[in-house]
Amino acid sequence: MGSSPFLIIAIDGGAASGKSSTSRALAERFNLLHVDTGSFYRHITAELLRRGVSHTDSATLQATLAQLNFSTQLDGRSARMLIDGQPAGDEIRGEQVTSHVSHYAAIPDVRRALLGYQRGQVDVAREHRFAGLVMEGRDIGSVIFPDATLRFFLHADPAERAKRRAAEGRADSIATRDQLDSSRKTAPLVCPPGAIDIDSTHLTLEQVVEKMSALIAEKLR
Ligand code: C5P
Repeated sequence: MGSSPFLIIAIDGGAASGKSSTSRALAERFNLLHVDTGSFYRHITAELLRRGVSHTDSATLQATLAQLNFSTQLDGRSARMLIDGQPAGDEIRGEQVTSHVSHYAAIPDVRRALLGYQRGQVDVAREHRFAGLVMEGRDIGSVIFPDATLRFFLHADPAERAKRRAAEGRADSIATRDQLDSSRKTAPLVCPPGAIDIDSTHLTLEQVVEKMSALIAEKLR
């Protein structure tokens, strides 16, 4: 009897495409570490804004990034990034961070600063005896884990996505963020070749989770 493979599930997609709810449900069902890389970019953005480092000041940005120390704390099944030992505050979901994050995320130095940390979540998952991890973001299947067990790309109509955000009571610049994230030179938001493209516009969360779960279960067989 062979043991099950360590699962790496990549879920990419635009803002409010349903990545987080889907990832959390899969983490629960398959005993996976849930890693929301958007929260990492948001936390770095909050920290840089707090220190007054503009995304246009590359020298200061580089020097500041070199000083930041990243570690991980578990919150249930989710990985929380600590910067210099500090967890992110609620402000990472607020308007200021939301409207700035794509500008910082477009900078190669910022992405480079997070690359090894994101891949290192595999060690966190193994250390805590998860069966694998589910990582959501924009470049997980294209850059972070191109050899993931399964790579999904979630689509949804902009109107449906706006409705989802409004239902959460959150202000979000969905179209602007998607435009910035898709058009940047480094690690743009794309559905990479070979990834499984799912349009969730007319699907419920449960239906999306069922579709993905069936494919994951096949890998475990
Ligand atoms: O997923 P969420 O909407 O919270 O992500 C916030 C922002 O972080 C995105 O709009 C994008 O600019 C950036 N991001 C990224 N690459 C990832 C995850 C998030 O560039 N893997």
